[in-house]
Amino acid sequence: MKHDNASGPSRRRFLRGAAALAGGSVFAGPSTVFSSLRAFAQDPPSGCPAPPTGGTHFVPGSDTRPIILRKSINAFSAAELTKLQNAYAALRALPATDKRTWVLQADMHALFCDSCTTSPTDIHGSWNFFPWHRAYLYYYERILGSLVGDLNHFRLPYWDWENIRTLPTPYRSPGSAANPLWDGIRNSGLAGGGNLPVADGTTARINTLNLLTDFASFGGNAFSAGAMENNPHGTIHVDVGQPAPPFHDMGSLGYAARDPLFFAHHCNIDKLWSGWNDLAGGGGLPPNAYKNPTDAAFLNARWSFYDENQQIVSMSAADVLDHNSNLRYTYKVPIFRVPPLQLIWICKLICCLPGPDPGPILEVSERIREEALNAVRQQSTMLLVLQGVPVPPNASGIFEILSVRGERRQHLGSFAIVEHGEGRHTKQHGLQTVVLDITQAAGDLLAKEKPATLRVVRRPTEQKPGIAGEIMRPGQKLEYAFELKAERAEIRAQKR
Ligand code: C2O
Repeated sequence: MKHDNASGPSRRRFLRGAAALAGGSVFAGPSTVFSSLRAFAQDPPSGCPAPPTGGTHFVPGSDTRPIILRKSINAFSAAELTKLQNAYAALRALPATDKRTWVLQADMHALFCDSCTTSPTDIHGSWNFFPWHRAYLYYYERILGSLVGDLNHFRLPYWDWENIRTLPTPYRSPGSAANPLWDGIRNSGLAGGGNLPVADGTTARINTLNLLTDFASFGGNAFSAGAMENNPHGTIHVDVGQPAPPFHDMGSLGYAARDPLFFAHHCNIDKLWSGWNDLAGGGGLPPNAYKNPTDAAFLNARWSFYDENQQIVSMSAADVLDHNSNLRYTYKVPIFRVPPLQLIWICKLICCLPGPDPGPILEVSERIREEALNAVRQQSTMLLVLQGVPVPPNASGIFEILSVRGERRQHLGSFAIVEHGEGRHTKQHGLQTVVLDITQAAGDLLAKEKPATLRVVRRPTEQKPGIAGEIMRPGQKLEYAFELKAERAEIRAQKR
């Protein structure tokens, strides 16, 4: 898995060369493939279009189309699949002057992820992450639907990686430009039908996130990303992209939306947000459990897009919260109620034990130690929720967090920082929320004598298939990626 699909880099070189040729007329061929290739010449961050601004405000209730189910790609009928393929083929075939083109739409994402010098604010790394992507998918879906003459019924599929552990077949086979859902710049192992790394995008992770009742931990706040954004959202991005610089397409936010799989990935993220909201109202929960923020600063954030008529339109975060009524799609997510974690102990990450395993440890009072260990003895799941975790500017990729106590190493979780794009390597990443399942490691982390240290280790790219590789082997030297810090640390457990 060291070398990426050869067609990726060579295709890009070819395009860079081609861009230098006059007017792109060499591409005046009849096929949709050529017109989409021509569009590659527009390359963020240097060639980004100006972001749309202003435009007609979306009015909730104005969309009166039927409410249609967004389905898993695996649940698509042959006819639905054909429609999806035709929609992407039509999108790729649009003339470069059109405001709906595949590349312009992809660059819209680059614009809003700060990969472009013309970018307004970055919608990643904060509570804007969920609503912005929902609005973006809405207009993208309308464009695709109108291109196949079915604005009313066309809805995007999702890639439910928690169930489908390989790249969904229609997106990788046939593996050529004849397939409008294919992208030649992906991780070669996955592109060839390989499995996702065992730890990424799992049902277990989704269940862990559903234990969080507060939006800030799940979906972020004004200054920090929620836990969903770096895992599983980020891990799947990094897995699907090339494992080495420049990490295209999915592994770099500046290019990610050039892969049709991006939209299936984000539909799944959107589904999981919707599913988390569905947990609201359960018995014994605090009143704002599983609810979206009500702060004006969250609700009034507004972004401009192009719609299916190439008109500039704008949508606010408040507009997208009720996707059934306002955006006319729904999901069928099984409601799986788990007793949410409510008992919260505030603790501290303090630096650092002297000795062979330097790294921060959890500082807790004697009372908390006892209560927490007691909760674990009573079989409660236990999470460590770290808020306001800084990530060094150059860090990107997947990081593993280990508990290390003497010879014992336990894997507590992963998180990913997705590359933002060429030329922006020094960008300051937003603060992260890191949520770790410490149920098994609580004894080590809370031990009175020589407690476990917490280590952040970069996941070796050659070990993508598993996390149980060399970093877990006792005695194997661990390379520090960076020191784990947090503005706030909480241990959460179930009330018994
Ligand atoms: Cu805007 Cu998945 O990133």
